[in-house]
Amino acid sequence: MDRIRIVGGQELRGTIPISGAKNAALPLMIASLLTRETLTLGNVPNLADVRMLVRILGHHGVDYSQNGRRAGEDAHASRPIHLSARDIVDITAPYELVSRMRASFWVIAPLLARMGEARVSLPGGCAIGTRPVDLLLMALEKLGAAITIEAGYAHATAPRGLKGAEIDFSKVTVGGTHTAMMAAVLADGHTRLTNAAQEPEVVDLAACLNAMGARIEGAGTATVDIHGVGSLHGAYHNVLPDRIEAGTYAMAAAMAGGDVLLDGARPDDLRAALDVLTRAGASVTETNAGVRIKRNGAGISPVDISTAPHPGFPTDLQAQFMALMTKAKGASRITETIFENRFMHVQELARLGARIRLDGDIATVEGVRSLQGAPVMATDLRASVSLVIAALAAEGETLVNRVYHLDRGFEHLEEKLGRCGAVVERLSSPG
Ligand code: UD1
Repeated sequence: MDRIRIVGGQELRGTIPISGAKNAALPLMIASLLTRETLTLGNVPNLADVRMLVRILGHHGVDYSQNGRRAGEDAHASRPIHLSARDIVDITAPYELVSRMRASFWVIAPLLARMGEARVSLPGGCAIGTRPVDLLLMALEKLGAAITIEAGYAHATAPRGLKGAEIDFSKVTVGGTHTAMMAAVLADGHTRLTNAAQEPEVVDLAACLNAMGARIEGAGTATVDIHGVGSLHGAYHNVLPDRIEAGTYAMAAAMAGGDVLLDGARPDDLRAALDVLTRAGASVTETNAGVRIKRNGAGISPVDISTAPHPGFPTDLQAQFMALMTKAKGASRITETIFENRFMHVQELARLGARIRLDGDIATVEGVRSLQGAPVMATDLRASVSLVIAALAAEGETLVNRVYHLDRGFEHLEEKLGRCGAVVERLSSPG
């Protein structure tokens, strides 16, 4: 298994291009199931999760192709992908596939909307705690689906099609909002979602669905209105830049010091994280190209945060922010309100010398003067990258094991950091 070796202590200086957002690409790719015509997506990141989803969609009958590389084109430039679900050949998403990637459960919505039936394995638990799908199923039931749970599968049927409905989410859920939108676009009549997720990825999915002929209004606010249409058609859509990747490198620059331009980052999608970084002592400038992060000389100030649905501080940046706080001049409190058990990084950060006390969903981080490199590993994507951030500012060498977590969500991580002066390399090992 590959490992990443980092020798800490170098400032970061340069430009980091921000890739397309994984968390937008996944639902957008799933939306291809809604039409017989071709959905073309630009700016899709080349990540393990994307490749896995191509396999899963292929199982349902989606043909996949990618533009060839043009002469002189950067080897890493993202090339448009084409997804054509001309015929759905299987309405079952099996355990072997869904268990590999939670978001693939969302195929239940377009399969049900288009075919009147879907059988999708329940995703089960994952490293960041129980992640139920009750609200996703509630939304589909409101739209008129009959749902039974059989042998670990959710079986949804709507032989006469779905019907528009009022769907009120008792808790803000990104996946629930994605699935409700994808189901309602082909339902008969008007659907209103209240307490909907307002994440930029929801806005991106709605924009793509509208380009495919859907009628969705209000995405990005708590109330989303969807007027059902008879069918959707093909479209071209560009995936929005990854705010979590941008926020991660912003934390890395604040941690290591230096001056980094996050090329293509959209500051409006990152407001809460950028405000927190400013309070922590980084200088944040919005430019035409993206966002510039600098920290020269001055130390890192402690800041208390609490994760919250967008536009609050994203849970997907909580681990990275904790890494930054390990070297703050004082104590900070980090409260995780979205997921239980999302503190798997605490023990590993402690191996680098961090001082963190856990009390339920609150972590208190006592900043230390220095961290020391060590072998570490983590059990989820964001936790893994928090170890990379800590390692950039640790003395000596850190080996981050289980790199496949990073490969699920960060494209060309070591090259992007390496080009800014970090000493970072991938150690490949067979098997
Ligand atoms: C998405 C993101 C993930 C991010 C999360 C929150 C993708 C692929 N993943 O995950 O990176 O951390 O949003 O921003 O986009 N819940 C229920 N019942 C449900 C559904 C959710 O109780 O039926 C709860 C969850 O346990 C959690 C909260 O709602 O406590 C938010 O989860 P949700 O927004 O649905 O997360 P995902 O869409 O799975």
